Amino acid sequence: MQEKTISGFSKLSKVDKVRWVVENFFADPEEAGRGLMSFWHKDEEQQRVLDGFSENTISNYYLPYGVAPNFMVNGKLYTVPMVIEESSVVAAASSAAKFWLSRGGFHAKVLSTRKIGQVHFCWKGDSARLFRHFGELEKRLRRDAAHLTANMESRGGGVLDIELLDLSHLEPDYYQLKVSFETCDSMGANFINSVLEEFGSTLEIFVQEHPAFEGEEEHLEVVMAILSNYTPECIVRAWVECPVDALGSGCNGMSPEEFADKFAKAVRIAHIDPHRATTHNKGIFNGVDAVVLATANDFRAVEACGHTYAARDGQYRSLSSCSLEDGVFRFWLDLPLALGTIGGLTRLHPMARRSLELLGNPGAEELMEVIAATGLAQNFAALRSLVTTGIQKGHMKMHLMNILNHLGATEQEVEEATTHFQDKVVSFTAVREFLKSFRKKKGSLA
Ligand code: MEV
Repeated sequence: MQEKTISGFSKLSKVDKVRWVVENFFADPEEAGRGLMSFWHKDEEQQRVLDGFSENTISNYYLPYGVAPNFMVNGKLYTVPMVIEESSVVAAASSAAKFWLSRGGFHAKVLSTRKIGQVHFCWKGDSARLFRHFGELEKRLRRDAAHLTANMESRGGGVLDIELLDLSHLEPDYYQLKVSFETCDSMGANFINSVLEEFGSTLEIFVQEHPAFEGEEEHLEVVMAILSNYTPECIVRAWVECPVDALGSGCNGMSPEEFADKFAKAVRIAHIDPHRATTHNKGIFNGVDAVVLATANDFRAVEACGHTYAARDGQYRSLSSCSLEDGVFRFWLDLPLALGTIGGLTRLHPMARRSLELLGNPGAEELMEVIAATGLAQNFAALRSLVTTGIQKGHMKMHLMNILNHLGATEQEVEEATTHFQDKVVSFTAVREFLKSFRKKKGSLA
């Protein structure tokens, strides 16, 4: 066994990185090395692209790439790419898409696209003087950052507002430049962060050079400059609606009225109870994250933002809502989503490029609409199962298939097992016993 710490790991060749890892952490280094390397891309150029996204790469980690067809959003049909490892999610999205296809499809509207960034700083000097000269500072901030903002401005975006906030009642001497941005079709993280860092430098220079702050240079400390992933004003609404009786036969055997009533109750419970809200919203993000990943957008940013938004009034609540008024079933989702369709990995990742092409190369706003619709579809499908048959029925089918695959079942055995377990609880032991006795019976008949 070698030592398990190392310096200069990043400088090793990829093969040597694999070697160091398998020799130090695996029982059978040769087998582990072969296993890790078997997931290298056969095309060296493609592998180089993937390796370029991150650091210290030793292999690739595959996830299933599925599609959900029949998604009508604002009258346009999409086949939605979904990257997710959880069974039943793509099936559920597809089933909800098909259900709403004959009921007007999904509707979606981007409500606004403002993003936020902050320069956090401490100021021990006179607060009033800072505010008095803020107008001048703002002009200087915009002027100094012009070389960074010109291109974005030519695309219709750039810096919108700059606010000076006195937050010294929360933390001694703490102030903030709160900046809002429009970043068009890019997620804009690099753009926003570059502008904010420039703003931080300008702020320091302004205080050093302005006669009004003479002798106060030491009173300023720029703590950090960074975008905020909380973008409540970069938000999209997706909804479905139809007369209650048009829910028709899609209610898993329930009457449309009973179904709609129970469904709306389930949504209200997710507004009231944080435990349920968390699971409810997790179901929404099953759909959202899958498309965010398929298009190489930042799912951590999308999740963080969505959950903060869900807790915006101080309690974590459902992101979706449901109303039953004048005999109309209406179900909607408000979701803050900061996405890009240019920049970042969206055009570099070979599969993200395919996803965007599959969606018809949408701009960021159209992608926001499709993703919100997918989240809503996922939520609809989950609640429909939960308030009617329960969630396990569908899951058990998948579970059974996974166990049968694991046990090397033949086509005939799969067929027999599917019939046998239709009304029985699926467990590994039960399936193994079933196969054992089925094989024995077959053997004795042969
Ligand atoms: C499972 O991944 C997601 C659900 O639990 C969501 C929900 O309960 O609403 C089915």
